Amino acid sequence: MERVTFAVRALAAFGIKDLLLTNAAGGINKNFRAGDFMVLTDHINLMGANPLRGAAIPGLPRFVDLTETYDIKLRELLFKAGKITRLKLQRGVYIAVSGPSYESPAEIRAFTKLGADAVGMSTVPEAIVARQCGLRVAAISCITNPAAGIGGKNLSHAEVLETAEKVKTLAAKLLKTFSQLYGDQ
Ligand code: HPA
Repeated sequence: MERVTFAVRALAAFGIKDLLLTNAAGGINKNFRAGDFMVLTDHINLMGANPLRGAAIPGLPRFVDLTETYDIKLRELLFKAGKITRLKLQRGVYIAVSGPSYESPAEIRAFTKLGADAVGMSTVPEAIVARQCGLRVAAISCITNPAAGIGGKNLSHAEVLETAEKVKTLAAKLLKTFSQLYGDQ
């Protein structure tokens, strides 16, 4: 946890104010297709770990509020960038698990009931630390595959890489447009 979130602490120390996180995720929401992008509205931390565990850091809050982890203004900018690039962005709740195995179909059925739309193995620790440091956060998932038991076939890392490869130009366009809008604010 300390290692994965070190970069966020370093960026905050350099004076960065806003952070856009990206990840690959499995689609739980049945309306999602491989290659879709999902703007995170919230998350569920099922990693079994929290990056703020351990010794308190002087000057930083220990009990960090996560009521609005993903900043509404940055989310709006992402949707605006989606419109400009003619890319329909999904929105939803990201559930973070530790991995590195993929989930079982029973787990995915349970996550559906918990209110999750996509599942992945990252992002939440970074978002929590960013909020502790007072950064505004936005995050976007590339839905690389239907989650276990949803798409009727087995999961593989090769499929994740293949989908990411297919949509990388779209992703780059979206992020470039987002950064232009961000700069124009
Ligand atoms: N589960 C967890 N993490 C992932 C997945 C998935 O199906 N796809 C890409 N990252």
